[in-house]
Amino acid sequence: MDLPGTTGITIVPTGASLGADIVGVDLSQPIDAATFTAIEDAWHQHLVLRFRSQQLDDPGLLRFARRFGELDKAPIHAKGEVEDPFPEITVMSNIKIDGKPTGNLGNYEAEWHTDMSYNELTPIGSVLYALEVPPAGGDTGFSNMYQAYASLPADLKRALVGLQCKHDSSRNSAGELRKGFKEVTDPREAPGAIHPLIRTHPATHRNALFFGRRRNACIIGLPPNASEDLLDKLWAHATQKRFAWYQQWKVGDLVMWDNRCAMHRRDAFDPNSRRLMHRTQIKGDKPRFDPATLAA
Ligand code: SIN
Repeated sequence: MDLPGTTGITIVPTGASLGADIVGVDLSQPIDAATFTAIEDAWHQHLVLRFRSQQLDDPGLLRFARRFGELDKAPIHAKGEVEDPFPEITVMSNIKIDGKPTGNLGNYEAEWHTDMSYNELTPIGSVLYALEVPPAGGDTGFSNMYQAYASLPADLKRALVGLQCKHDSSRNSAGELRKGFKEVTDPREAPGAIHPLIRTHPATHRNALFFGRRRNACIIGLPPNASEDLLDKLWAHATQKRFAWYQQWKVGDLVMWDNRCAMHRRDAFDPNSRRLMHRTQIKGDKPRFDPATLAA
């Protein structure tokens, strides 16, 4: 769809349950207000946006991301990864120099998760830019949590109202213990923020299931077995293929996603190939559920 009144961008939906390409914009150049509004509206509609064939350095990546708000500092890493000179950039890479990892996550599979949801204020969005990609593997999957919520049976939706979930901060999405954290043996004792299971998006006023990571999650106030059973059921529902779309990376792809209504994961890839991504995150808000959304 061409958008009148903008600098000529075209929005091409993936045809899956989320995701769209934005064609016709050079993100290394200043973006006028009309084009920015069109991009933001498309983001709210499609949850994940992809911009192909971009040529960005770190300042350019940060400049684009800052149009959406203040940026977060990179999260605490699992190992002794080298820090990027820009504190708002997280290096996602399997490349080692002198045997030392230069980035996060290595070549591992990353499980479905929401970025930094273990914080009280959770990033509203993440922006990931591809500098080097492997010939195969390392695809990033996204899942539409509006649709996951909307397709739950009515009685289960009612049962979730008012429930809150603990979001464990001790492990990253590859399951590695972060520096300075202890092994969690009882999810009720896990460090991390507590957020509503149903999250109302402040811009679209739509409700989404809101999860962090499955491991060490627990529902506040439920006995451990009941919490595990309900979380297993909800996660099995939310991670179905019908809600997902996978990004197959090319160098120069910039993908941004909305952490308030989309989860993501990453496939593993051959450790002998190289993958280098720079990620930044748009500072967040406190997840909330608005009961008024149920009245409609
Ligand atoms: C992540 O942000 O969880 C990793 C995504 C990726 O490396 O594709």
